[in-house]
Amino acid sequence: MDKDSRVAVVTGAARGIGAGVARRLAADGFAVAVLDLDEHAAAPVVADIEAAGARALAVGVDVADEASVEAAVARIAESLGPPSALVNNAGITRDNLLFKMTSTDWDAVVNVHLRGAFLMSRAVQKYMSSSGWGRIVNLSSTSALGNRGQANYAAAKAGVQGFTKTLALELGRFGITVNAIAPGFIATDMTAATAARLGMSFDDMKIAAAKEIPVQRVGEPADIAAAVSFFLREDASFVSGQILYVAGGPKA
Ligand code: NAI
Repeated sequence: MDKDSRVAVVTGAARGIGAGVARRLAADGFAVAVLDLDEHAAAPVVADIEAAGARALAVGVDVADEASVEAAVARIAESLGPPSALVNNAGITRDNLLFKMTSTDWDAVVNVHLRGAFLMSRAVQKYMSSSGWGRIVNLSSTSALGNRGQANYAAAKAGVQGFTKTLALELGRFGITVNAIAPGFIATDMTAATAARLGMSFDDMKIAAAKEIPVQRVGEPADIAAAVSFFLREDASFVSGQILYVAGGPKA
């Protein structure tokens, strides 16, 4: 256990992509703050990381709530150490065609993805800029290019890309890089819920999706974790403001 290891903060890390990222960053040598809505839901990921000999902390937070974010980041700095990496991964979907989309579902999605990334980034940047080193990775999506039934989600994920490029411009002088990953189809509870909503079995949906993907398979959380790991490397310090599509093939 390295008590001097850098601290990474991963939001929405109790399951899915975030859990995969948290485990990978622990293996890379980071102490990891595992954030999710329910602190108890994050405990199994923390237990896995600790069993592998690394440091981790489960923290309950609503990333869209300013006071909750400020308290969570202060607790991380106190318990694990000052954050040097942030992965803005927490996300929700509230899909519907425009004419059926409620303003509540619009606000919920935009708040978690955009306001959440803003609040978390603003809270951690002060630790990063005072140490002169930082890495922020935001989760966008191929849906940013447009996706039927996801006006709220697509707008938020396109917004994440503009947010990423702007933070890269503002924070580069402090040794902080800011990049985004735009995944294609990744097998998680989120895509399983989409299958259920469309009345398909998840297996059938994965088989159908794989046929449309050049590498002929759907993605796994580890595929995204590998890309996050790259952006956090010491020698990735000249890579900033980029949007990396991780989708098994080219995307615009
Ligand atoms: P998931 O639904 O399996 O996990 C999301 C996690 O975020 C959950 O544990 C949830 O409790 C947490 N969360 C939701 N709202 C939160 C809040 N306000 N504060 C804190 N935590 C909150 O989703 P998945 O698939 O792992 O997605 C992770 C990220 O990747 C999301 O931003 C998603 O939009 C993005 N993404 C996922 C793709 C996929 O195919 N699964 C494709 C492209 C992007």
